[in-house]
Amino acid sequence: MKTALITGITGQDGAYLAEFLLKKKYIVHGLKRRASSFNTQRIDNIYSDPFNKKNRLTLHYGDMTDSLSLIELIKKICPDEIYNLAAMSHVNVSFSIPEYVANVDALGTLRILEAVRILRLEKKIKIYQASTSELYGNADQIPQNEDTPFKPRSPYAVAKLYSYWTIVNYRESYNIFACNGILFNHESPMRGETFVTRKITMAIVNIVLGKQEKIYLGNLNARRDWGHAKDYVQAMWKILQYKKPEDWVIATGKSYSIKDLLTLSFSYFKIDIKFLGTGLNEKAIVVNCKNPKYQINKNQVVVEVKKRYYRPSEVNELLGDSSKARKKLNWTPKYQFKDLVEEMIKSDYNKLKND
Ligand code: NAP
Ligand code: GDD
Repeated sequence: MKTALITGITGQDGAYLAEFLLKKKYIVHGLKRRASSFNTQRIDNIYSDPFNKKNRLTLHYGDMTDSLSLIELIKKICPDEIYNLAAMSHVNVSFSIPEYVANVDALGTLRILEAVRILRLEKKIKIYQASTSELYGNADQIPQNEDTPFKPRSPYAVAKLYSYWTIVNYRESYNIFACNGILFNHESPMRGETFVTRKITMAIVNIVLGKQEKIYLGNLNARRDWGHAKDYVQAMWKILQYKKPEDWVIATGKSYSIKDLLTLSFSYFKIDIKFLGTGLNEKAIVVNCKNPKYQINKNQVVVEVKKRYYRPSEVNELLGDSSKARKKLNWTPKYQFKDLVEEMIKSDYNKLKND
């Protein structure tokens, strides 16, 4: 049985990855930080009593800003694989707390690598680093692959750039099996509620349920390459099973705008919308609601743009070329964009209809 340590186990990817590894018969340890209220909802379904002899999932308190807890934990568990997923992962929020983001998202990775080195576990432990397509920023090249130059555009992306190169440096300097997965956006019903996909699916459900009139958003013209988190955690695992440590782009190869996402999400409820105006004056109105069950009026404004959701510097388009992973890891995403959005809407509808 292999043992894995997942930092960020309480997040979207951590939860899917833990489930995936448990199915592969791993013993899974997760690092969770202390919070004043429960932060383990995403893993409730796989959590079992620690005193149960068959239990293979254990959570440990720790923090990416606390080297001592990381060293102690890695020493105690001595895992075969570390998946470093913990991060302050919201790009827009990173402009408000840049120093904290550097501490967690950049130095946190250094702390993990140093812990492995100090403990002389370089030969034993393989490390996966949650790198990101945000590294590309406003890249000159579309689509982006492993050779595309990085041009980060936010404190989040700059911190992740530090981590990216630290992983490469420790691989080259100390021969550690350390890899970057450069993952493009991936979503799911467990996506955090302030990321644009989930913000939209929840708001549209609330609009059709008559609980909310409209949704306020930022840049409607940004484009992203959205995949499903379930497909992407499989890629993380495959990256660590490859014969040598390398860096990998993981993406669907298709991009959509925020407007596309809105149009598709409303169409799930048989509501047609139309966009009017530009920039901060842009909005969407209802042109047709084919389902009489919903109290939606023709011409009702359902989307408005607000400056507060714009970023000081935006990444306009991300589109990934994951040919390398498809060829060498035999990885292909199973989910289509439409299925992903439908799954998120259905899940939010079931959650919100009785609230
Ligand atoms: P997420 O849902 O925001 O989860 C982040 C996790 O990190 C949570 O478990 C969070 O704990 C934990 N965390 C934050 N600060 C911490 C700290 N100081 N110490 C310990 N744990 C801390 O993010 P995600 O979508 O699962 O993404 C996982 C990783 O992949 C992140 O590193 C993200 O930057 C990266 N990534 C994500 C995407 C994407 O599209 N999802 C794409 C590329 C890369 P709490 O639950 O307590 O907040
Ligand atoms: N969050 C949010 N809220 N985004 C909005 C809004 C809004 O109201 N309106 C427009 N957007 C636009 C953003 O400006 C951005 O261009 C796009 O929607 C996607 O935003 P997010 O869903 O917040 O994701 P992200 O692309 O910034 O970052 C996510 O993906 C990265 C990988 O490319 C995060 O998961 C990062 O952690 C990850 O590294």
